[in-house]
Amino acid sequence: MTEYRTVLVEKRGAVTLVTLNRPEALNALNSEVLKELTEVFGDYDSDASQRCLVLTGSGEKAFAAGADIKEMQPQGFADMYSADFFAGWERITSTRKPWIAAVAGYALGGGCEVAMMADFIIAADTAKFGQPEIKLAVTPGMGGSQRLAHAIGKAKAMEMCLTGRMMDAAEAEQSGLVAKVVPANELVTEAVKTAEAIAAMPPLAAIAAKEMVNAAFELPLAQGIRFERRLFHGLFGTEDQKEGMAAFVEKRPGNWKGR
Ligand code: CAA
Repeated sequence: MTEYRTVLVEKRGAVTLVTLNRPEALNALNSEVLKELTEVFGDYDSDASQRCLVLTGSGEKAFAAGADIKEMQPQGFADMYSADFFAGWERITSTRKPWIAAVAGYALGGGCEVAMMADFIIAADTAKFGQPEIKLAVTPGMGGSQRLAHAIGKAKAMEMCLTGRMMDAAEAEQSGLVAKVVPANELVTEAVKTAEAIAAMPPLAAIAAKEMVNAAFELPLAQGIRFERRLFHGLFGTEDQKEGMAAFVEKRPGNWKGR
């Protein structure tokens, strides 16, 4: 398996566990992290043996404390604009197969934004979410203003982006930012367990379910419902649909082929 400098990758059966591994910088996200994650997520999407991915942070202190401030500090507008800085993260958000962010400790700035790129977040009770960029005289730049507003609504998103305050795990769960909160020492086990449950599902239906839920954030309702229905119809062309419904009728577990 390829060795990376900033991330650790482990395959646990059908689940890929990816750990951000720059603990000396609280897993701050620099260009090297993005380059390596792009490769890891690309491999995951094209490896038929892998059916769910968990992204977490090394150490208890941080999932990721943001984009790397030291890397950005010397940049000017022309550098950022010509490089379309952060556009590369769209390669992570275009991952077709399901993935989960498992967050313990700080998920700040780009860290919160990457967690929100996941299909859902499982948080440790130690998690702290925030968009503190305003304190650096900038703003979220990796989708945070948009995804946070979608996830928790305008009032809280605006308050967080304007004050830079952090939200703890309990408030994040109550606000709909995270799917569930678990004790910190059980975070990875719980996230992998959830990923295994997803990995056991028929893979084409999983991709379709992901696509249609995401469509809810991009399309008007009538178009989203039509999109859902067409994907639903399309699944009736798969062998797994025949198998899934036969397995139900015959009272046995389904055996998925992914086609
Ligand atoms: N970038 C680069 N290095 C970072 C970093 C970041 N985002 N966050 C932490 N580090 C580094 C620190 O510089 C420090 O390194 P040194 O020991 O070499 O000085 C190391 O990680 C440990 O950090 P602290 O000593 O600051 O740890 P702490 O416990 O005192 O504080 C913290 C923790 C509150 C998270 C604090 O580190 C912090 O405020 N970090 C920055 C958070 C932030 O502003 N994030 C947004 C970044 S901008 C962004 O993300 C833009 C975007 O939209 C994508």
